Amino acid sequence: MSGGERAAKSRENARHIPVMLPEVLEAMQPTDGEIYLDGTFGAGGYSRALLEAAQCTVYAIDRDPSVKALAEKLAEAFPGRFFWLLGSFSDMVQLLQAKGVKSIHGVVLDIGVSSMQIDNAERGFSFKNDGPLDMRMSGQGESAADIVNNADEEELANILYYYGEERQSRQIARAIVKARLEAPIMRTSELANIIRRIVRGKDGIDPSTRSFQALRIKVNDELGELERALGAAEQLLVKDGRLVMVTFHSLEDRIVKQFFQSRSGETRGGSRHLPPVEATQKAAAYRLPTFFLPQRKPVLASQSEARINPRARSAKLRCAIRTEVAA
Ligand SMILES: C[S@@+](CC[C@H](N)C(=O)[O-])C[C@H]1O[C@@H](n2cnc3c(N)ncnc32)[C@H](O)[C@@H]1O
Repeated sequence: MSGGERAAKSRENARHIPVMLPEVLEAMQPTDGEIYLDGTFGAGGYSRALLEAAQCTVYAIDRDPSVKALAEKLAEAFPGRFFWLLGSFSDMVQLLQAKGVKSIHGVVLDIGVSSMQIDNAERGFSFKNDGPLDMRMSGQGESAADIVNNADEEELANILYYYGEERQSRQIARAIVKARLEAPIMRTSELANIIRRIVRGKDGIDPSTRSFQALRIKVNDELGELERALGAAEQLLVKDGRLVMVTFHSLEDRIVKQFFQSRSGETRGGSRHLPPVEATQKAAAYRLPTFFLPQRKPVLASQSEARINPRARSAKLRCAIRTEVAA
């Protein structure tokens, strides 16, 4: 086996371990005859578990075309019960309508990147392995290199500050602009080295972690996708349908938490992608479940899971149940 083949094999083997799977199933309560949407197919961990738990139908979406082979295997294993759709989960209404599906019983979103994406240096998500500065989940649109080499200094600083909560955003932006005057920054290692010269690592965390997260969020419009998906799921879910969200950082969890609060009539909303505040006060589109306690707090991964799977350590699960109120 050549070096390239070995690398490809090990990527294939580095399958994504589904995060908080028992909790996702408990929240979703898969039931025979129902239809679910797994909006973030990845390696198909959630889809498979839902299909195994009940005689249900699962539609799965992923914007990354490289998951196609895995999806096809699952479709073979569960004929007539599993369907994969290439696209963004914010377009879930249109993607499902194109298949003749207008309402469903559950939506689960496991936001973020998969281990396959992070571990494949060629995708450019990782500061650990050198690769092209890409970070596009779909392989389309502006790459991280486009942003790093073309955005002006203030825009770069804002991206790092708002999406990465990086306190040294201004110094990093200045250093990027200075470095790219000499040559475009095209590799993950080049960017990581620029950042490492400015930011000091703490508690064993690489100094470029926050900046890479920020660029990834920007490249993939992750927060916009999340907000639009929350609005879209409301249109699809039947009464008592479940919306199950797994997030991995505070920016995402805040959006989900505020959405659940405002749409369950608890507090005022505020996103431009979501229905106006007066509407939420009149009628709650969701209620918060009582089977997860404490009700308004997110569910966290168990200690044993966090020990085995480092990704699970920052995971937060929230669930809301659809009422009969029109979307
Ligand atoms: C964390 S992984 C999901 C892993 C999956 N739950 C499993 O158990 O294998 C996230 C996946 O969602 C996809 N994704 C992220 N944002 C997306 C979006 N806006 N639309 C569609 N897919 C998205 C990514 O490409 C990635 O494959």
